[in-house]
Amino acid sequence: MRKQPLERKTIDRALSRLGLCSRTEALDLVRSGRVRVNGFVLRDASIWVTLGLDQIEIDSRRAKAQEKLYVALHKPVGYVTTRRDPEGRKTVYDLLGELGTWLAPIGRLDRDTSGLLLFTNDTDFAARVLEPRSKVEKRYRVEARGRVDDEAFERLRRGVELADGPTAPARVELLRRSKERTLFEIAITEGRNRQVRRMVEAVGSKVHKLARVAIGALELGSLAVGKTRELEGRERSLVHRSSPKAT
Ligand code: URA
Repeated sequence: MRKQPLERKTIDRALSRLGLCSRTEALDLVRSGRVRVNGFVLRDASIWVTLGLDQIEIDSRRAKAQEKLYVALHKPVGYVTTRRDPEGRKTVYDLLGELGTWLAPIGRLDRDTSGLLLFTNDTDFAARVLEPRSKVEKRYRVEARGRVDDEAFERLRRGVELADGPTAPARVELLRRSKERTLFEIAITEGRNRQVRRMVEAVGSKVHKLARVAIGALELGSLAVGKTRELEGRERSLVHRSSPKAT
């Protein structure tokens, strides 16, 4: 059997690669003198180590690769996607309990957005989902103020001009429309800050409610608000398929 090549990484990347913590947390661990490599306390996170060769310890305990975990959360409105909030607001980690020790979110949802948010300690998987080249579709259910007309939908489909450049083509499906409200789904492949809200504003309306209902072909389904569940292998591969809805 061919042996895997040894991986060389800076210590912050190495700890995150092992699924032990995020890179930011690794920096904190190093700065506070809790990490040793081959018996020596490390103070500089830019030092390179070789995984599988160098002996890495945190708080005098051997740093071993953690089992890979993939978790879906139905994020409620009112929670921020961060581990610690300087303003003391509720965070998604309040909902993860013990699991949160190891996991980092794959992307983020605004405080006012609800829906499907994934967490993992598999940094390669997270990078594949997030990199723009992968074009993983995120599908949102939007309740917009007023009547969004067909021409506005066409513009959303083609792409609209935002302050940080034009958006890529999107899939849009109208669900219900009245004078006061328009309910539709939009599937986008980018993940820019407040992108859906800004796209809706660019066509002259405003988001009233926003929920992410799918990532690729992985649907939020019946997961209750505020609850988590672990994903099986088959479900993880759904993330890279396009979702059947939103024409
Ligand atoms: N687009 C937004 O505007 N907000 C989100 O939370 C996600 C996508």
